Amino acid sequence: MKRKPFLAGNWKMNLDRKGALELARSLRDALSASVLAERDVAVFPPFVYLDEVVRALAGSGIGVGAQNLCDEKHGAFTGEVSAEMLVDIGATCVLVGHSERRHLYGEGDELCNRKVQRALAAGLSTVLCVGEQLDERDSNRTDLVIGRQLTAGLKGLSAEQLGRVTIAYEPVWAIGTGRNATPEQAGAAHTHLRGVLAGLYDARLAQTVRIQYGGSVKPDNIATLMAAPDVDGALVGGASLKVDSFLGIVRFH
Ligand code: 13P
Repeated sequence: MKRKPFLAGNWKMNLDRKGALELARSLRDALSASVLAERDVAVFPPFVYLDEVVRALAGSGIGVGAQNLCDEKHGAFTGEVSAEMLVDIGATCVLVGHSERRHLYGEGDELCNRKVQRALAAGLSTVLCVGEQLDERDSNRTDLVIGRQLTAGLKGLSAEQLGRVTIAYEPVWAIGTGRNATPEQAGAAHTHLRGVLAGLYDARLAQTVRIQYGGSVKPDNIATLMAAPDVDGALVGGASLKVDSFLGIVRFH
């Protein structure tokens, strides 16, 4: 089954207002409808710039999403942002369970599941991130860990809802380290994740879900990573902050 590649930039807590808008406008100007017919592209700016980046990219065909959301609908949750607020300003997508949320802010599988549910209920599409830490890989627990994160993160979702979910496999040891997973490592993890999806739903549906790889993706390694089995795109951190390097990834061949 052919899945449309999905290349996304997670800007994390980087850029200022001017830099965020410049990057958004440069991407809009560079990415023609013919490129976007072949691959989906999205950016995930910091919350405070989201509204303006949505407007800068309106009608461009480039998706804009948030890096996080609250698991509650509304109310006394100081510092949080709801799914409805994201929809209200025109965001279409949200990251859930990024490794920095899990490991720096203690987000667990149950919270991630509530966030996925909340996002989908509001009409957002969701990128659910999973990934093992180095000691887990070294003790051969990669499949166990990412399978558990995937199963827990998707708990209670219907097949229709799964249709609005992308999975991002981001091995923690490869994030921001310059040490990307090899295509063999990425392919093995992705194929395992697709097998888990087939077990949770069915093989046909599992074939339709896109699984992005994330962790030190660069213009010079994207093509070999994309050639690995079951790798359908990339979630890019550092290399998404400069227009040339992100375009080099989006235009891989
Ligand atoms: P880097 O591309 O900087 O390794 O970050 C990956 C990532 O965490 C994307 O969400």
